Amino acid sequence: MSVSVKDVAAAASVSVGTVSNVLNRPDKVAPATVARVHAAIEKLGFVRNDAARQLRAGRSRSIGLIVLDSANPFFAEVARGAEERAALDGISILLGNSDQNPVRESAYLDLFREQRVNGVLLTPHDLDNAVLLNAGIPLVLVDGELPGGQVPSVAVDDVEGGYLAVAHLLELGRRRIAFVGGPLSIRQVADRLAGARRALAEVPGASLEVIELEALTVLRGSEAGERIARLPAEERPDAVFAANDLLAVGVLQGAAIIGGIRVPDDLAIIGYDDIDFAQSTVVPLSSVRQPANDIGRTAVDLLFAALADPGAAPQHVRFRPELVVRASTAGAPA
Ligand code: RIB
Repeated sequence: MSVSVKDVAAAASVSVGTVSNVLNRPDKVAPATVARVHAAIEKLGFVRNDAARQLRAGRSRSIGLIVLDSANPFFAEVARGAEERAALDGISILLGNSDQNPVRESAYLDLFREQRVNGVLLTPHDLDNAVLLNAGIPLVLVDGELPGGQVPSVAVDDVEGGYLAVAHLLELGRRRIAFVGGPLSIRQVADRLAGARRALAEVPGASLEVIELEALTVLRGSEAGERIARLPAEERPDAVFAANDLLAVGVLQGAAIIGGIRVPDDLAIIGYDDIDFAQSTVVPLSSVRQPANDIGRTAVDLLFAALADPGAAPQHVRFRPELVVRASTAGAPA
């Protein structure tokens, strides 16, 4: 049975983070603690992760991470999880932001190849097989999965997540639902809409209007919220499912703060991701939670596994989404 970082931490009566610091940033740790940890490492015969050791052989001690939008707290938490996991093995994360732009995504893949990173964790702007199957560097897809499963992936079941969101609105008695999303070329957005449609099909008489925006940002959400607020009451949706929390925050701002619509009385709003400040908005937002930190950690584990055994079949992890109900969808039907 191999000795883990946790075993060393327990033996030295320190945290796993302290063990990681002793291994990677000993200058940040008290000398007595460094000595105690090294004594535990020697006593237990701890050996760093084999894949991590291979990572360092002849290549940079780093992994590339390319996200769709570095301003989105969801991806910041994914990056944090990846960094925490990689640091346990002395590996750093280099972050790139594609901004949903294929040219930028391709440029970062080129850069990370030149930097000789050991692999790249990628949230693709779309699931273009040709690019992803010929990346020329070990890849793990974050938040996406190729239909043929040829590349390791970690994601959340976004169809189930979209279903949870709209089923919740329908249970409130809402019947005129607007889906406020980003480009439907982004698989996460398309899957959430597919789940929404599946929930809607179970309630005769309910309607779903699709509002496709160019980006999943607070600004675009606020503009959509204002447009919704300006509609005559009889034409206005009574609920919004926003494809992520940034859009939901924007819809809340545009419809309620600027447009004067009452949330949830006139308009229930639910988002997706459950980012930290979804609970801090003027009307705390209901959302569909993704385990962002776990997604980041798991992506690194999948890359280590692929590097340790290149011939093995690609691994896939799919997390379940979780409905989180707050004030923006609480209360009686419209
Ligand atoms: O980037 C768009 C969305 O996809 C993010 O908010 C997150 O939900 C990701 O899955």
